[in-house]
Amino acid sequence: MSKLTHTCGVNLPADHPLVDGRTSDSRLIRAYRGDRPPVLPVWFMRQAGRSLPEYRELRVGTKMLDACLDPALSSEITLQPVRRHGVDAGIFFSDIVIPLKLAGVDVDIVPGRGPVLAAPIRTMTDVAALRPLDPDALAPIAEGVARTVAELGQTPLIGFAGAPFTLAAYLVEGGPSKDHLRARTLMHSDPAAWDALLTWAADVTGAFLRAQVLAGASAVQLFDSWVGSLSVADYEARVAPFSARAISHVSDLDIPIVHFGVGTGELLPSMKAIGVDVMGVDDRIPLDEASERLGGGVPLQGNINPALLAAPWPVLEAHVLDVIERGRAAPSHVLNLGHGVPPETDPDILTRIVQLAHGDAAYGNAAQRDRAHGDPAHA
Ligand code: CP3
Repeated sequence: MSKLTHTCGVNLPADHPLVDGRTSDSRLIRAYRGDRPPVLPVWFMRQAGRSLPEYRELRVGTKMLDACLDPALSSEITLQPVRRHGVDAGIFFSDIVIPLKLAGVDVDIVPGRGPVLAAPIRTMTDVAALRPLDPDALAPIAEGVARTVAELGQTPLIGFAGAPFTLAAYLVEGGPSKDHLRARTLMHSDPAAWDALLTWAADVTGAFLRAQVLAGASAVQLFDSWVGSLSVADYEARVAPFSARAISHVSDLDIPIVHFGVGTGELLPSMKAIGVDVMGVDDRIPLDEASERLGGGVPLQGNINPALLAAPWPVLEAHVLDVIERGRAAPSHVLNLGHGVPPETDPDILTRIVQLAHGDAAYGNAAQRDRAHGDPAHA
């Protein structure tokens, strides 16, 4: 049976882009479903943001989290890289700490540092004081997504959320940390408080995901950025069940789910096993090796080394072509970075990568385009 007949849109609103057909046949969604579209889809983690002068201009005088909660701003910032680079998806401009803030946590994003909390969450008493997220608080998110989707047309929007462990890495520490040691201690020193904290985080972040999907996102990515600091045993026993709980908030909606973290070579099979469709791979492990570790049947996303974005073009070009070639080991591939765009990246380089990916003969684009007789619906 062709993957294209995959039923999508169960329980989604009738005017959702996956249901009314706007995005269901897009390169991104086809690749996420395990199909190989004629042209390789590409987008970049952190494509919206500081690498773009138009972003820096728009952000003058507005704090990061205020920008995320202003639907006109979040929508415009999401659209900027889509217009500029011609990428195959937008990713909603927001932050993993937004649902925490909307649930009443006193958190701010300090420029150059990251999320900082007024008071860290370290004991059962701290956890017990956390409040659930009132669904009405998500209205600015739903409105930002709806505005963006109305502008994007046939280009899918990816919704996202932080996974419970990565959120806990900030909540327990009270801010960014190198090794997330306090969180890794708490899961063993007070398992009851840990379970309660991750349950709360899973439900808050799951509600954030669900709001984005119902408002029109065609796929979601769960970022467990810092999970690579864990052993497989700790991941499976003390983290994976809560990540599964987070995505259970969208499991009735039949949308592709991508799971990504940094330094996850050892964790890939366990991260897949929580019930996701696509694995995002960081740049520490080649895609053919990642595919083998996953048993060969999992669509992959990744994994251009962000450090090479600043290398001479011939060096970067050879690397991108190698990533594309190794991606052929998986049933399907969405080209991306191994982690986010560094702020100092020359945006023209990102555009050039998109052009290379879209025209690359090594992927089979040229031959397949000939077969499609130049029909843009097949391009
Ligand atoms: O990918 C995109 O284009 C969508 C936007 C997006 C942002 N944050 C915007 C942002 C996404 C997907 C995130 C997720 C996020 N936030 C993650 C997971 C992804 C990853 O990179 O691993 C994490 C760990 C965070 C927490 C966070 N927020 C950090 C570490 C920082 C950087 C702090 C700094 O100034 O260096 C932020 C702030 C943030 N989130 C910025 C942007 C554009 C920079 C804020 C600014 O412009 O001043």
